Amino acid sequence: MANVIVIGAQWGDEGKGKITDLLSKSADVVVRYQGGVNAGHTVVVQGQTFKLHLIPSGILYPDTACIIGGGTVIDPKVLIGEIDQLHQLNVSTEQLMISETAHVTMPYHRLIDQASEEKRGEHKIGTTKRGIGPTYSDKSERTGIRIVDLMQPDILRKQLQWTVEYKNAIIEKLYDLPPLNPKEVIEQYLEYAERLRPYVVDSSLKIYEAIKKRHNILFEGAQGTLLDLDHGTYPYVTSSNPIAGGACVGAGVGPTVIDRVIGVAKAYTTRVGEGPFPTELNDEIGKELGSVGAEFGTTTGRPRRCGWFDSVIGRYAVRINGLDCLAITKLDVLDNIDEIKVCVAYEVEGQRCENFPTNARIFAKCKPIYETVPGWKQSTAECRTLEDLPKAALDYLKFLAELMDVPIAIVSLGASRDCTIIVEDPIHGPKRALLDANGIPVKTNGN
Ligand code: GDP
Ligand code: IMO
Ligand code: MG
Repeated sequence: MANVIVIGAQWGDEGKGKITDLLSKSADVVVRYQGGVNAGHTVVVQGQTFKLHLIPSGILYPDTACIIGGGTVIDPKVLIGEIDQLHQLNVSTEQLMISETAHVTMPYHRLIDQASEEKRGEHKIGTTKRGIGPTYSDKSERTGIRIVDLMQPDILRKQLQWTVEYKNAIIEKLYDLPPLNPKEVIEQYLEYAERLRPYVVDSSLKIYEAIKKRHNILFEGAQGTLLDLDHGTYPYVTSSNPIAGGACVGAGVGPTVIDRVIGVAKAYTTRVGEGPFPTELNDEIGKELGSVGAEFGTTTGRPRRCGWFDSVIGRYAVRINGLDCLAITKLDVLDNIDEIKVCVAYEVEGQRCENFPTNARIFAKCKPIYETVPGWKQSTAECRTLEDLPKAALDYLKFLAELMDVPIAIVSLGASRDCTIIVEDPIHGPKRALLDANGIPVKTNGN
């Protein structure tokens, strides 16, 4: 039995969908614990591509329960669309469950997200405009509507009548936009409620029951460490906690049930939206990474900014998430690069800086210090063991592991499930997060 968290170790889109799908083979339950339809997780199986925004990436296994946890925010229209699309592709959603404590994204959340981004002008965050920030703001402000409210028509009617009127004041006065019709919103959401009703559960209880049966639970993070509201590159972050700690809060489990944390990182770096990005490449190599890696947002279609691998943020992700191991994805995208650079530290105000600076203004001034390693200039797409890899590719992976002091358990060389090297069992292998005073991993029995 092992309960495992999968998180993004960079700025999102690391390939969490692919890795979660891969690991779901040995999971009984997969739980999405935060975020909303800003996420876009791609799973490719036997040539078929699935793009998931809210439904956990374990859904393709018919015997695996999939839970959208209480820490998520749910846009019912998008979720229903996702369910319908899966049905069209003959994927069952019988094993899908939705937490009654998740918050609901409403039309005014989307409107306010879009309008406020416009108003911010050059200070915009570059959000996905899916209403994520406003939905989480209402949760903190305690004016949010939860799935449990959606399931009670009388309560929903009263709550929405008041909330839409309240939001209309903001929409009209602050943003100069036409108001929403409360009646229309209420009718629409009552319809959504009936579509979602069969899936709604007390998710924390379901997870607890599974844990007691010693089932394997996989917690799937959305976004990434550097987009975390508390620990990311604030204010250029999302409004939830994608880091491993967020899994306990979002899923409603105690930290003592977690056995392993796996970080997913690309062999280079990408970022969508605004905000500092020290290793960004605004040159031909950046363009090449973008085109070879097909770096366009899964949710918005926006081009992703591309750059070299940054081991400073990698080390930070190891620390903040207590990573046991890494899955390195998209190594194949580097196949044709002559020389590869890796950021080993930053230079800021004449000083060498090994650690991620929490001060956003200092981070914005950081210049990468690179080490250059040779490329391998051959295809790795067909490699299935470490021995199959060209020596330079293997050396590159070893260099990354050394820089971040974390083992690489999985190497991904293509979008589909089978384009993968399993270096060591990431779920049942030795637990590495704990190091003794000499930096030697403390092994536990894993249970
Ligand atoms: P997520 O949000 O972390 O799940 O990542 P996305 O799905 O948004 O973006 C990752 C993209 O890279 C998707 O299009 C995947 O199909 C693709 N992908 C994942 N792993 C690999 C890999 O190892 N090589 C290549 N070439 N593509 C990959
Ligand atoms: P997955 O799960 C990459 C980014 C947006 C923006 C910032 C805030 O697919 O990795 P938001 O709409 O959340 O308020 O936007 O966060 N962002 C993502 N970037 N992958 C994602 O999800 C993201 N979800 C949000 O681009 O910079
Ligand atoms: Mg994505």
